[in-house]
Order: sequence, then C-alpha cells, then structure tokens
Amino acid sequence: MQRIRTLPELRQASATLRAGGRRLALVPTMGALHEGHVALVEAARRAADAVAVSIFVNPLQFGPSEDFARYPRDEEGDLRKLRDAGCDLVWLPDVATMYPPGSASTIEVAGPAEGFEGEARPGHFRGVATVCTKLFSQTQADVAVFGEKDWQQLQVIRRVVADLDLPIAILGHETVREQDGLACSSRNIRLTAAQRAIAPLLPATMRDALARIAAGEASGPVLTEAVQRLVEAGFAPDYFALVEPETLRPWQSGPGRLLAAARLGDVRLLDNMALA
Ligand code: PAJ
Repeated sequence: MQRIRTLPELRQASATLRAGGRRLALVPTMGALHEGHVALVEAARRAADAVAVSIFVNPLQFGPSEDFARYPRDEEGDLRKLRDAGCDLVWLPDVATMYPPGSASTIEVAGPAEGFEGEARPGHFRGVATVCTKLFSQTQADVAVFGEKDWQQLQVIRRVVADLDLPIAILGHETVREQDGLACSSRNIRLTAAQRAIAPLLPATMRDALARIAAGEASGPVLTEAVQRLVEAGFAPDYFALVEPETLRPWQSGPGRLLAAARLGDVRLLDNMALA
C-alpha cells in the first residue's frame, strides 16, 4: 500500500494503477476510520481494479465555531485498517498541498445543498464540493464511493458531477450501524457513556416514525411527536424531516427519505432512512 503526500507522486501512482484500462476507485474520507469507512473500501474493491483512499480533514467544510481542531485524528490506526482492507494507495495531502497560498476557486452548489446541513452549517457544502472535485481531479479516479450516512452530501456530489460533466461514476453505499442501530461515525467516540446509551434512540425513533407513515398515518403529527420524544430523552434536534430522496424537497408521496440531525451535548448525530 503506497502512502502519498505530494501531487506529482500521486499523478504517477494513479497513472500506473490505471495503466492498461484498469479502473481506479476512490474513497474520500477525513480519517478516524471505522467500520463504515471499511465497508466503502470493500465496495470500492468490488467496483474497480484498484482502490485509493484519501484522508484529509478539510478545513474548508468546517465553520469557524465547529470542531475542525477537535476532529479525531489517528493516522497510524487508519493506515493499519486500510492495509487490512486491501487499499492500494492512500492520499494524505496537507492543507498547503490542497489549498496552496493564493487559492481562490470554490464550487457553489444550490438545489440539494440548500436546507438541512446547508442551513445548519453555512459554507459546509461549498467546502465538500470543492474538496471532492479536487480529489476527483487529483486522483483521476473512474468511480468514487460515498456513504448514504451523509445522504445530503451524496446528493450534492451527484449534482456536482452531473452539472460539471465530471468523468467519474458515483456509487452510494448503505449506512453501516452498530449492533444497537446507531450509525457508525467518527464523532461517536466523543459521546460520554450516558450520551452513548441514549444515542440509539435516534434511529429507533426514526424507524418507528417511518413505520407509522408507511402504515398510512399523516406524516406531520407523526414527525412532531417523534421530535418531542427526542427532546424528552435529552436530544436537541436540529431537523427531522421527510423529503424527496434526490431533490430534498418536502415529501408529497412515493419514495421518501427521513433526514435527522440532533445534538447530544456538543456531539451532533446525523442519520437518515428510506420510507419503505
Ligand atoms: P467522513 O465523515 O470521513 O466520511 C467519509 C465517507 O464515509 C463518506 O462518504 C461518508 O458518508 C461515509 N460514511 C461515514 N459513516 C458511514 C457509515 N456509518 N456507513 C456508511 N458510510 C459512512 O464525509 C466526509 O468524510 C467528508 O465530507 C468528505 C466526503 C471526505 C469530504 O471532505
């Protein structure tokens, strides 16, 4: 497994991995890897001939009052997991490599980037869209794998790739969960034991609300009641909304996606599920 920290080296390694028409898959990450990330790497191996993983905690997608400095980092642990998962190349740029002094171009997405995380975290999707477009260009990957865990992010990336005619296929992978239903997340390790015990109530409440809506109950009252239950359990919900899966406009009928964000102390939990 090659560890690469400069762009010329990356270009060369990518060209070698892609020689003879071999397909390269990219899994973009911010490190502190868990089972969800490993599942994406395994899906990437099935989708292509070689796998590159990027680890870059992207300052552009964090707001000034967010947890960029406190974001968990564990490079040695990450490299061990990636070696075991069969990754071929790890791209580890530093901030000056990704954003050299004088950088002045960003990618602004409307549509699916509006509302929800886009509203709670102004500028977040500008940072995500910009860094992912750069990662696609830097690695020249044929396919990139993203988790459904960040549903809105996945829709934003699909939009950017379509709008800018980027020559890359985007593959979504289902959310990997702990035994008790909590979605795996790098931020879960920051939960106290008491918060960790409450956390699975978020997916459980979502599942319950979706079952009632699927059974024909009106969505408005069901969602309001679910939010009340979360507040009573100690969550500070940011949103709990049923939307159309791709546009993220309010759900009317047919396929839907329940998007939820709720804070426990200073940890923000994000989850989403399909309306069956
Ligand atoms: P990060 O949070 O490290 O996530 C990297 C990828 O792993 C994303 O595609 C995310 O959706 C996926 N992922 C995280 N938890 C998951 C889970 N429980 N099950 C399945 N997939 C999961 O998302 C980012 O980094 C960044 O915004 C990035 C795309 C790398 C741009 O900086």
